[in-house]
Amino acid sequence: MKILAFAGALRAGSYNRKLLAVAVESLQGQAELDLLDLREITMPLYDGDLEAREGLPEGALRFKGRIAAADALLISTPEYNHSIPGTLKNAIDWASRPPDNPFSGKVVQLMGASPGQFGAVRGVLAVRQVLTALNAVVLPSTVQIARADGAFDESGRLKDPKSAAQVEKACAGMLRITARLLAQDGPR
Ligand SMILES: Cc1cc2nc3c(=O)[nH]c(=O)nc-3n(C[C@H](O)[C@H](O)[C@H](O)COP(=O)(O)O)c2cc1C
Repeated sequence: MKILAFAGALRAGSYNRKLLAVAVESLQGQAELDLLDLREITMPLYDGDLEAREGLPEGALRFKGRIAAADALLISTPEYNHSIPGTLKNAIDWASRPPDNPFSGKVVQLMGASPGQFGAVRGVLAVRQVLTALNAVVLPSTVQIARADGAFDESGRLKDPKSAAQVEKACAGMLRITARLLAQDGPR
């Protein structure tokens, strides 16, 4: 089983990068992990004229390829103004362009972290809406880390054991459901 993991934030000290790292740690040895940094796949703002003239930008093609090669996606995202960060939406929009939709049928585990009290839950809901439109199998349960500025210790672990257990549970659920779908439908 191959899992593509990325954060919806770019900054080096991102709480969502930290949360993703906690989840990746719990998945180690149980799946092949492809860790993506959205900074590796920079792309211009979506522009239909640019697409018509030049096709998809190289970053978008690479992003599509990484998604297509995965069985499941693990995404940890902040919320910007109660919604999906523009960088993440732009990358998804480019990746959704024909001829193929790489999101279709992929299991998606969503997580979010924010220094605020809602733990990016509205951003995660917005990502769910977008990926559902693309026929992804977005899992119902999520992990939301509120007050993320105080949630991690110096080694990057979640201080609250309940939060750590939620991450473990979500990752175990993703593995279980992806394995079931793979057993039923066969590999990608
Ligand atoms: C443009 C912008 C809008 C934001 N809007 C929200 C918001 O609606 N809710 C929230 O909890 N935090 C909001 N924040 C704060 C982010 O949660 C905070 O910057 C967080 O650290 C970003 O995630 P990261 O740590 O993974 O980079 C916003 C930040 C930016 C830059």
